[in-house]
Amino acid sequence: MELIIAANWKMHKTVAETGDFCRFIRQSETLFTGVEVLICPPFTALATASAALKGSSIKLGAQNMHWERQGAFTGEIAAPMLLALGVEYVIIGHSERRHLMGEDDNQIRQKVKTALESGLKPILCVGETEKEREQGLTEAVIEKQLAGALEGLESGKISDLIVAYEPVWAIGTGKAASTADAESAAASICRYFLSNFGEKKVVGLRIQYGGSVKADNIGPYMVLPSVQGALVGGASLEANTFSALIQAARKAVIS
Ligand code: PGA
Repeated sequence: MELIIAANWKMHKTVAETGDFCRFIRQSETLFTGVEVLICPPFTALATASAALKGSSIKLGAQNMHWERQGAFTGEIAAPMLLALGVEYVIIGHSERRHLMGEDDNQIRQKVKTALESGLKPILCVGETEKEREQGLTEAVIEKQLAGALEGLESGKISDLIVAYEPVWAIGTGKAASTADAESAAASICRYFLSNFGEKKVVGLRIQYGGSVKADNIGPYMVLPSVQGALVGGASLEANTFSALIQAARKAVIS
């Protein structure tokens, strides 16, 4: 299955910086063959990224969206607005939104549902806090987050879904999860899908690892049996660093 590597820029980059990044990264796109690469800039830079990536194989994602298609929701962005800009993916339920913005499972479920119905591919983020890990609750937390986000979802939609396993304690800390812990969590995600949506429907589901991924540590994650990509924050902000990371991932799977 093709790897999927996504750049999550969070609240970084102006329009001008986005244009520069996109023009630079597309020069190395022939080195990314076999890896699906996408960039998730802030909303304000989506139009610029869309224009700068036109004709390239690098895709565009958003970092969030509202579940309603339009309406009186000051400050929010709806799926049709993203689609009109050429956005294909949308990150949903990132831990910063869950923990800093108070997003709950109910909101996340509505967002996943609307994204899939609208033709956007959700990157659903799940992961435990350090305290939950210490209490041995990692698997239970992941299962609760998956159940909360996917309840009532039609199994036919699963192949459009990406799940990113991002332990909260590994995000932006330089303290990446061990490959054994990443595999164990990703395997528990696979088991959840197998028991809730049936084996056949699982075909096509991809699971990313996220949390302090860099060019020099990505390789071992990409060859884990249950992991097919990465969600990258800090190491995606410089085009040459991100390009090196994608090439390292590719090298790991082809070697
Ligand atoms: P990081 O962020 O790579 O900076 O740890 C990952 C993420 O939050 O998606």
